Amino acid sequence: MMPIRPSERFITGFTKLVGVEHPIALAPMGGVVESDLAAAVGNAGGYPIMPLSWSGQDIIATELQSLSAKTNAPFAVNLCLDRPQDARLELCLSYKPNAVHFFWGDAAPYVSRVHAHGALVIQTVSDSEEAKRAVAAGVDALVAQGWEAGGHVRSTIATMSLVPAVVDVAGSVPVLAAGGISDGRGLAAALCLGASGVVLGTRFLATPESAAHKDYIAHLIAADHGDTLVETDLYNVGWPKAQHRVLRNALADRWLAEGRPDNTSRHRAGETVAQRGEARIRTYQSTTPHREMTGEIEAMSMWAGQSVGLVNTIEPAGAIVERVTHEARTILRSISLDSASRV
Ligand SMILES: Cc1cc2nc3c(=O)[nH]c(=O)nc-3n(C[C@H](O)[C@H](O)[C@H](O)COP(=O)(O)O)c2cc1C
Repeated sequence: MMPIRPSERFITGFTKLVGVEHPIALAPMGGVVESDLAAAVGNAGGYPIMPLSWSGQDIIATELQSLSAKTNAPFAVNLCLDRPQDARLELCLSYKPNAVHFFWGDAAPYVSRVHAHGALVIQTVSDSEEAKRAVAAGVDALVAQGWEAGGHVRSTIATMSLVPAVVDVAGSVPVLAAGGISDGRGLAAALCLGASGVVLGTRFLATPESAAHKDYIAHLIAADHGDTLVETDLYNVGWPKAQHRVLRNALADRWLAEGRPDNTSRHRAGETVAQRGEARIRTYQSTTPHREMTGEIEAMSMWAGQSVGLVNTIEPAGAIVERVTHEARTILRSISLDSASRV
């Protein structure tokens, strides 16, 4: 990979706000983004967001210390507001993140507290009304997460329509596009829609630095665009009533064929499918397959976005940041007014 020349860099509202070289953020992905992957993205000039919503205090401390030992790059911490996060927020702030990124709820009650610690506030939104409220509450950047996205997704709107709608109400607040983006074409398109950058999740799962289980990565590489499902009551053990996008598997196909039976009557309800040390993972549990797990990985919640169709190799995270930037720059240069008028 050729290093990116300064003249090829995209300088956007987001890169200036957070102080990174490239408008590419590593999506917080609970259970699989650990300090190795975050540091690789940060050291390549991208923006890592550490998922800490379910982590115990000891893990938060270990992961954030470990990240600081591996990189000086700015980073954000991610907290999902489907549960109380006060204690985690306090601990995270003591590690001086560049920003706190909130998902699945309203960041408003936390804005002044985070700002008082010198950190920025980022909120993921799923429609323009939520974006308006977040901007009015004083958030510093928005993530517009479209329906194509992997993992938990609130929106029912596709990224292509959502991003410009959010940009239109965001004013000077930078917007990142998330969902369905795996390469430079996606970055170029997002910038054309008015975004200040992109958040990549599924693409970064298939990297040597990711903590995803090797069988999960193999399924991602083998999968095509049409191989994901978006459901609310499928992997609902541990996180009920939350829409999510995952790879199809035999367990999901049977559940659909049987008419989406409830948690008590469905096939293999309550059985253990995998283990990590002493911890047992049950069928239909909302848990990302980690490399230290053993068991039936294929039966677990293998979160993936529709962008999985463009994930065909394991590629180092830093090379992804460089490639996506190069590709987007090449595409945007190649679209001249002449070629556009011939279309
Ligand atoms: C494995 C996985 C785990 C995720 N966990 C979280 C999380 O803990 N917090 C969060 O805000 N978003 C989470 N997401 C959503 C991502 O932050 C992001 O919006 C999504 O991956 C973007 O879509 P893409 O996968 O098509 O790139 C997760 C996504 C995946 C694929």
